[in-house]
Amino acid sequence: MDFQTQVMAPGATAKLAADALLLVIVGDTLPATLDAPLATSVTEAIKQGDLALKPGKCTYLRQVPGVKAPRVVVAVAKDGSARAVQAAGAAGIAVVKGLGVKHLAVLVAGATTGAAQAEALATAAADAVYTYRTTKPSAAAAPLLAKLTLLAAKADAVAAATGLARGAAIAEGVTLARELANRPGNHCTPTLLAAEARKMARAQGLRIEVLDRRQLEALGMGSFLAVAQGSDEPPKFIVMHYQGAAKTVAPLVLVGKGITFDSGGISLKPGEGMDEMKFDMGGAASVVGTLRAVAQLKPKLNVIGVIAACENMPSGRALKPGDVVTSMSGQTIEVLNTDAEGRLILCDALTYVERFKPAAVVDIATLTGACVVALGAVHSGMFSPDDALAAELLAAGHAALDTCWRLPLDDAYDEGLKSNFADMANIGGRPGGAITAAMFLKRFTAKLRWAHLDIAATAWKSGAAKGATGRPVGLLTHWVMAQAK
Ligand code: BES
Ligand code: MN
Ligand code: ZN
Repeated sequence: MDFQTQVMAPGATAKLAADALLLVIVGDTLPATLDAPLATSVTEAIKQGDLALKPGKCTYLRQVPGVKAPRVVVAVAKDGSARAVQAAGAAGIAVVKGLGVKHLAVLVAGATTGAAQAEALATAAADAVYTYRTTKPSAAAAPLLAKLTLLAAKADAVAAATGLARGAAIAEGVTLARELANRPGNHCTPTLLAAEARKMARAQGLRIEVLDRRQLEALGMGSFLAVAQGSDEPPKFIVMHYQGAAKTVAPLVLVGKGITFDSGGISLKPGEGMDEMKFDMGGAASVVGTLRAVAQLKPKLNVIGVIAACENMPSGRALKPGDVVTSMSGQTIEVLNTDAEGRLILCDALTYVERFKPAAVVDIATLTGACVVALGAVHSGMFSPDDALAAELLAAGHAALDTCWRLPLDDAYDEGLKSNFADMANIGGRPGGAITAAMFLKRFTAKLRWAHLDIAATAWKSGAAKGATGRPVGLLTHWVMAQAK
């Protein structure tokens, strides 16, 4: 999708060549700045009962006198916040997206259109037009909507353009992450994930390496390989490099869980809903998407994206409960449940990234059902022993409208990971399951400034709207961009 800003002058709506005008009204009165013919029509619609100036309300007008665009959609926002403008924008876009609208102009009346509002509108538009068709070519054609022009007051135009550019980059990253995660497990194998990462890297001018089983063996990634051993699909370890600063500048590192299908392994999951475990590479998808967004925004810093990708399958060669594996760190792990596989692949990835001497490391994983229970689909779970890093991620989440919530990492939670047969067990019991999973990872991060995002509930939606969300590409992109200042 194309995004552009245009300075809003009085009478602009009479001249603006677009297929539709989306008017977002903030508050419960019509702003006096609205062009008179448009204001008259909206007032008339209110009088005739077609619209109320209440949050969430929306109406559709055709051939408004004095407005060049043949369609006008009016949507009401609760306030001028980016969140509210996004919600109203999304409602309005939903009305026009099925129509013959290629070029949509958007005007926010009654509030400033700053960077945050502009970004929120861009991501809402991209969200509305994304249609998954890769294995369903018969799906309704994607909406025609291909261009969005944001009208902004002269004083806001620079900020709006900046926000729109950021929103456009995030939207590309989110769309890529959604597309990868939506693909079924028989398509999106570790091999395909590596090929798609390569495609993205080539297009964006990033360096990429993909390590195969032999190289992982040489590195001593006994824990990652133990998960991979039950599957006929070969594991891939993907390393992408964005270089926006001198090589000597310590990089930010993102580590993604890339389980392309999680059957649970020998500790097999129940059948119901197991299909959704194709989304268990949502963390990996968000790393690819974030690197794409960052490559487009070109901040002056270095970012490395790392993905451990494999399937978790039962077979005659699969890992068994009670097996003890040796991680790349040298620590041994007793596998009490083969379904707690995410931490087994991430621990070796976390050890691997020590070599980059990172400024900070964030891992992103659909790690625990317990996190779904704890936080639902609103906030991603966030864990870090580092208060400053935690604050950065909370702030990035707010700025991106892609929030996270910090959960604790007290040593007392470590108790449950004790094992009589290895340095640790891979599970800690049901209570506080998201936290014990994070405590497990923490044992591999002594040399790192580290945070963990559990996106089990936020990476995809279930039910009728089943599909990947692309979260937390927005949060991660904002975090990276904030480090460049
Ligand atoms: N990928 C799952 C976590 C998950 C479950 C994400 C449901 C989203 C929805 C992970 O590999 C897993 O199976 N975790 C287990 C851990 C348990 C065995 C300690 C879980 O959460 O049940
Ligand atoms: Mn699992
Ligand atoms: Zn999993």
